[in-house]
Amino acid sequence: MPDALKTELLTLVSEAPDLAALEEVRVAALGKKGRITGLMKELGGLSPEERRERGAALNALKDEIAAAIDARKTELHAAHLAARLEAERVDVTLPVRPEPRGRIHPISQTVDELVAIFAEMGFAVAEGPDVEDDFHNFTALNFPPGHPARDMHDTFYLPDTADGRRMLLRTHTSPVQVRTMMSVKPPIRIIAPGRTYRSDYDMTHTPMFHQVEGLVIDEATHMGHLKGCLIDFCRAFFDVDDLPLRFRPSFFPFTEPSAEVDIGCSRKGGELKLGNYGDWLEILGCGMVHPNVLEACGIDSTRYQGFAFGMGIERIAMLKYGIPDLRTFFEADLRWLKHYGFVPLDIPSPAHGLTR
Ligand code: PHE
Repeated sequence: MPDALKTELLTLVSEAPDLAALEEVRVAALGKKGRITGLMKELGGLSPEERRERGAALNALKDEIAAAIDARKTELHAAHLAARLEAERVDVTLPVRPEPRGRIHPISQTVDELVAIFAEMGFAVAEGPDVEDDFHNFTALNFPPGHPARDMHDTFYLPDTADGRRMLLRTHTSPVQVRTMMSVKPPIRIIAPGRTYRSDYDMTHTPMFHQVEGLVIDEATHMGHLKGCLIDFCRAFFDVDDLPLRFRPSFFPFTEPSAEVDIGCSRKGGELKLGNYGDWLEILGCGMVHPNVLEACGIDSTRYQGFAFGMGIERIAMLKYGIPDLRTFFEADLRWLKHYGFVPLDIPSPAHGLTR
């Protein structure tokens, strides 16, 4: 009888498909109401002689079954682990996360960089409409009607409004200066990035392009502040610590004195490099805000003064990122965007670097 039982139990143990089934076999054999336990209980009714013999046999059987269960348990554990390892296998050569496919356009990235740098200097961001009137785009900026400097702007004019205002697409971001001075009291410290429009199209001009305007108005703001601000900005933006700047006298109706700013570069071997190499490249216009402009905006020019600057965003983006043709910015070619665009999580900040 124990031999038949042993064979039966050992078969059940070895054929238990999983840990739960194995536990059932254990309970059925060795549990309180198990078959071996039941046989043990019957020993009391036997003669001492028989009891010893049968008891020894049952104990041996019990030990053997317990050992077989342990062995099967180890086997099932190992099989379970192997199956998990197989199912959960990771390919460690895969990228940590899939590369995002969308790209940030270099203009957007450059605007974010400008904002990051000027925000650290205490500038706020201001905005104005693309469709402007003649007053904000020209007259308030000290371009009187008929002034020859108006002709240099290749303006897109729109139909007059019902009340006879002359409308146009803004030719520069300087009208945002006017709107800001007319609506907030000094001290003023703003930049105004945005779209601008001129009727022109060739290698270096597109009818729509972007500028960023800067304006600082306070009681004691002077040309030295203008220079320091632009030197700091250019060195941070182009990431060249000793980048030299040259301020050349120039003319804008809305600033006096006015200057154009060149940065140091080299054009050796047809390759443009920024730095202290003896050659120069023009990048922006600036000057002290003309008293006529302050007065046109309702600011007392005997008490307040300040500076303004403006530059083309495409131009500085092309210089920084080595983009050769302005027109490609607006062709919406996905291959171009994939090449020159930025990964969405590359958020510029002076702390962790402005470039990728
Ligand atoms: N608005 C000028 C332009 O478009 C640039 C500029 C802005 C110059 C502010 C001086 C001060 O040419």
